Amino acid sequence: MVTGLRLTILCENTVGVPNGVTGEWGLSILLEVPGITVLLDTGAGGALVPNARTLGHSLNKVDQVVLSHGHYDHTGGLRAFLEQRERPTPVYAHPGVFAERFSLADGRMRPIGLPFERGALESAGAEFRLVTEPLELIPGFCLSGEVPRRFETGDPRLVIKEGEGVRPDPFPDDLSVYVVTDCGLVVILGCAHSGVENIVEYGREVTGINRVAAVIGGTHLGPAAPAERDRALAYLHSLDLDLLSANHCTGLPVLAAMAGMFDSRFRFAPAGTIIDLPFQPV
Ligand SMILES: [Fe+2]
Ligand SMILES: [Fe+2]
Repeated sequence: MVTGLRLTILCENTVGVPNGVTGEWGLSILLEVPGITVLLDTGAGGALVPNARTLGHSLNKVDQVVLSHGHYDHTGGLRAFLEQRERPTPVYAHPGVFAERFSLADGRMRPIGLPFERGALESAGAEFRLVTEPLELIPGFCLSGEVPRRFETGDPRLVIKEGEGVRPDPFPDDLSVYVVTDCGLVVILGCAHSGVENIVEYGREVTGINRVAAVIGGTHLGPAAPAERDRALAYLHSLDLDLLSANHCTGLPVLAAMAGMFDSRFRFAPAGTIIDLPFQPV
């Protein structure tokens, strides 16, 4: 169990208050718990290093990087991050993070995978630690590994290279973070391509903690089919969370619906947001 958790949103699509940071489509969250500082994702490229500096964080204090999946908007800042570091950095990710990926969303095939060669990242100081199973970095702070799919999920516009063609991306590389606090389980999402219900249920199973205190991050419910979106929102509501803090691929209509459903227990999390857990609704 960890005794406290602070999350700082270093990169997100938007900026909520005039704090000098830059919005960029993507996500990066600094996770600070006693004993370890982890950077979950790195945004799309340009914003991470200057935003961290503006918010008063030295990225040299990061002990480990975790990549939630291979999309460029979560991995594109990795090289700049590594190049300003003073020492090599362990980078946890699923082996599928390096796959070639594309979006068909705007009628053409646009590359959206990790925008660097593995060797280039290693030359810049990345020490990849590839994981497929749940992994506890310190007691109470766990990476999900591959998430079993029990609830139907998927986005047919997101594809992965196979042979000379492409197929719908099964996202085996989609990792989330589980933190066990004295209030319950905190689930921190990248893009939730595994499906938010699958991720939360697997977190309960992996940690043995049934009480879910908070769900934070990109839910991917914006692009989801209406039936899947409504099912997931009802599921989240049934958890009686202390905090739902969504952003990134959740999208404005779903964020608005969440704000109505969760009232003071909802918090939008643009770049520059700081969240301390345990969370006290105001
Ligand atoms: Fe994303
Ligand atoms: Fe994604």
